[in-house]
Amino acid sequence: MKIAILSRGPQLYSTQSLVRAGHQRQHEMHIVDHTRCTLVVGRGRPQIFYGEYLLPRFDAIIPRIGASVTSQGATVISQFEMMDTFSAVRPDALLQSRDKLRCLQKLARCGIEVPRTVAVVPGQPLMPLINSIGGLPVVIKMLESTHGIGVILAESFRTAESVIEAFQRKGERLIMQEFIEEARGADIRALVVAGEVVATMERRAKPGEFRSNLHRGASAEVEHLSPEEENLVKKAVKLMGLDVAGVDFLRSKRGPLIMEVNASPGLEGIEGITGVDVAGKVISFVEQRVRERQHYQSNTRK
Ligand SMILES: Nc1ncnc2c1ncn2[C@@H]1O[C@H](COP(=O)(O)OP(=O)(O)OP(=O)(O)O)[C@@H](O)[C@H]1O
Ligand SMILES: [Mg+2]
Repeated sequence: MKIAILSRGPQLYSTQSLVRAGHQRQHEMHIVDHTRCTLVVGRGRPQIFYGEYLLPRFDAIIPRIGASVTSQGATVISQFEMMDTFSAVRPDALLQSRDKLRCLQKLARCGIEVPRTVAVVPGQPLMPLINSIGGLPVVIKMLESTHGIGVILAESFRTAESVIEAFQRKGERLIMQEFIEEARGADIRALVVAGEVVATMERRAKPGEFRSNLHRGASAEVEHLSPEEENLVKKAVKLMGLDVAGVDFLRSKRGPLIMEVNASPGLEGIEGITGVDVAGKVISFVEQRVRERQHYQSNTRK
């Protein structure tokens, strides 16, 4: 098969891991920077130019879209879909999961427990917002944060106030959450491929830090999920309309609380810690879906 990884970083671990896994299965692998794609719609066949070159038709794409280029990425995925290419992530599911608030809204609406969260809108008095999520301390998050940058623990009203003011001045959209203290700086990351949990790890923040991001110096080890947690993770991924996702949750007094469902989970940490060939599983999933589509199309043509 001809498979393209949509990625701006050909040298990134996750991109390389997927390319390697594809080569091992005798696929023709390409890396396409979606920000360099020119999309042509209108009369005739939809086309994608890459610089001056017309891209060939791919059997499948595996989008690895960074947070800063999500909507552009979603448009490029839609164009590939118009060209009858299978995408490992649907564009609407990517957009929905990337917006932390929309993701939490959707999960909560479907009965999945998430940390109590409020949207912080400029001009609103702060104290009622803090009270609505159970009081101090609170976690303030930029909606577009990644790697824990833009995630702040505010233990006092004054800190919360000045952090929010500073972020809002920069035009950042914010949410505020109850602080799950009993998680003690640890969270769980579960990787799901084709509806199955394939790898899980616990990330633990370094001393004096509450954020368990590996980029913030956290450590990680293999951790197994309880059957309840596993079902919850699978349900969350399904609700978000994803087939490949990383789910992050906190273990709290009232059970697991889902923080995020990530449509482009990094593979380096989880493959390194668990030894699971997650990229290989993603490629197998893509192969299966492409074959199913081909089978369906040849049957409907008969
Ligand atoms: N409400 C909370 N209570 C306790 N700890 C939290 C809470 N929210 C986040 N954390 C800690 O902070 C870390 C970073 O938060 P979060 O995952 O929401 O942002 P991010 O890592 O910047 O975003 P992304 O996961 O999209 O890269 C989490 O992994 C978790 O350890
Ligand atoms: Mg995170």
